[in-house]
Amino acid sequence: MNRAIGVLDSGVGGLTVVYELMRQLPNEKIIYVGDTLRCPYGPRPQHEVKQFTLELVQFLMKNNIKMIVIACNTATAYALEDLKKTLPIPVIGVIKPGARAAIKSTKNKKVGIIGTEGTIKSNAYPNALHQINTELEVTTLACPLFVPMVEKGILQGKKAKEVVADTLTPLKKAKEIDTLVLGCTHYPLLEGTIKAVMGEEVQIISSSEETARETSTILEVHQLLHKNPRNIEHHFYTTGDLNIFMKIYRSIFNRNVGEHPNIHIENIII
Ligand code: DGL
Repeated sequence: MNRAIGVLDSGVGGLTVVYELMRQLPNEKIIYVGDTLRCPYGPRPQHEVKQFTLELVQFLMKNNIKMIVIACNTATAYALEDLKKTLPIPVIGVIKPGARAAIKSTKNKKVGIIGTEGTIKSNAYPNALHQINTELEVTTLACPLFVPMVEKGILQGKKAKEVVADTLTPLKKAKEIDTLVLGCTHYPLLEGTIKAVMGEEVQIISSSEETARETSTILEVHQLLHKNPRNIEHHFYTTGDLNIFMKIYRSIFNRNVGEHPNIHIENIII
């Protein structure tokens, strides 16, 4: 039976990871849950993020999934280690894959990390980076205005540019980073604007590609890869506004939900 990969996020950001999962693993079914109603998770205390993440995991587990991808840095920082110990199926987050991609990219060993307050406070990125290379100079910055802006569907234009430029000013001034990790799965939706502000010489890293690669490796090692490309259906669930969800879907996948008959989107209450 073709069991699905379960993917979760606090809202629409995890769709950036889903895009890469679908590209690299076209035979796999995806079940996605985004908790837009309670988004953002970034400013919430750890115990609350853990509880909400657990509720999303329980929802996914009811759908007989074979693996979980926590496509949210905040939930990864706060809940991944506990989930790894308790879940009967493989579970991965986005922080280690993001750290590995940054290490591959940096030449001057100066890496910047932007993320939610929770992710930055947890120190999960500097820890993951220094576990691999202690010589790296890591500068972190919380960007609390980015997620609410993305969840409202403001991805470009004057307002987005102003908020991104103002927020990133301290990072631009501080150190000569050559690599900037988008340590929040919502941020790739602002990538064009972030790139324009940071300048051509800074490599922008999002963890989605590396996360999809790791998912593929884990499925192979556990002999869970699905090889039959027939009857691939994807289910997306959101606790929030369906219209915004569809708008973000369109900007990531470059097509409307309705143009893809194998994609089903539904509203749920967690
Ligand atoms: N997309 C999420 C992340 O990667 C969370 C954003 C939020 O809910 O604050 O951290």
